Amino acid sequence: MPLQYRRMLSLAGMVLVMAAIFVADTLTEYAVAVAVFYSVVILAAVSLLTARAAIALACVCIALTVVSFYLTPAGLYKVGLINSGISIVAISITTWLALKTEAAQAAAHDAQARLLRIARVTSLGGLTASIAHEVNQPLAAIVTSGNAGQRWLAQDPPNVEKALQALDRILSDAHRASDIIDRVRSLTKGEKPRKSAFDLPQAVREIVSLSRGEIERHGIALEAHIDDMLPAVLADRVQIQQVIGNMLLNAIEAVASGPAHRKNIRISTSLTDGGGVLFCIEDAGCGLSPEALDHLFDAFWTTKEGGIGLGLSISRTIVEANGGKIWAEPNASGGATFRFSVPIAKGKTT
Ligand SMILES: Nc1ncnc2c1ncn2[C@@H]1O[C@H](COP(=O)(O)OP(=O)(O)OP(=O)(O)O)[C@@H](O)[C@H]1O
Ligand SMILES: [Mg+2]
Repeated sequence: MPLQYRRMLSLAGMVLVMAAIFVADTLTEYAVAVAVFYSVVILAAVSLLTARAAIALACVCIALTVVSFYLTPAGLYKVGLINSGISIVAISITTWLALKTEAAQAAAHDAQARLLRIARVTSLGGLTASIAHEVNQPLAAIVTSGNAGQRWLAQDPPNVEKALQALDRILSDAHRASDIIDRVRSLTKGEKPRKSAFDLPQAVREIVSLSRGEIERHGIALEAHIDDMLPAVLADRVQIQQVIGNMLLNAIEAVASGPAHRKNIRISTSLTDGGGVLFCIEDAGCGLSPEALDHLFDAFWTTKEGGIGLGLSISRTIVEANGGKIWAEPNASGGATFRFSVPIAKGKTT
């Protein structure tokens, strides 16, 4: 069920509970402090409402408590006064504490998300700077040799021998640049995978719960169809979790700026036909253009303002080093579907 319907249902449920508390509080004697239960409604509502709406709800609860007090037909007036007072204090304190807790939780989520990003950007930022520096040197040398070559050829008569030497230098510098790129690629590959048998669904769950804050912050509905009866896979658990994290982050980013009714992500795990386990993530986000489909897995290809364009290229390197496959396609809801497979650990159990 879409998130906004679930939210509306929960709010309707709360209104019903409040009505029930009001009726019970009015019909029972002064000595029974039913109004205290408004606090429970506030506790349940605070995560669904803005701070202002939660305060308004608390005021409504206090007003209902006062009205019930005047309408209650039986009991000792003084006891009723004290009980109503206690209920009002309980409602106020609960609202204050719940709002404080919510704010603290939101701040913690924010800090966690920022930390994750900073960690990624600092490591990748350092990497890009070093790539730029390393590749720039042979490129500068190529330009110098090219200029020299032009000058040797422009002489009358042209000095072909010197021009050929300049061309040789250009070729060797170009090879150096390409060697550097290869080295950087192996660097992003990281260490050789440390393969072990593990339970993919469990690994998926851990990443999902790590990203829970981001998912909730953006009001995204996450649907998980995780098959627990799958056989163990043989791969580097940490690396595979990195791939899942990259894909989940991309899906969050793809739906985050879209309309509320399209903020859906669906995750599933299943068996492949070819002796592997499949992880699949579908989103209803901005989707994949033909250009994106051609370049998604290229290093440094990004359409995001703050993006680096390394997430998917690193993911592909990892999945392939672990004996699996990774691919993407557009889906029926107009968003993107990403999948990867990893081999089953034959004869091993988790
Ligand atoms: N779920 C998705 N829906 C739509 N486009 C996507 C999705 N995932 C990736 N893309 C496209 O692929 C590009 C490359 O993704 P990739 O994860 O490699 O880099 P990035 O997210 O731009 O940056 P970063 O290196 O920080 O992850 C993205 O910029 C985006 O255009
Ligand atoms: Mg990414």
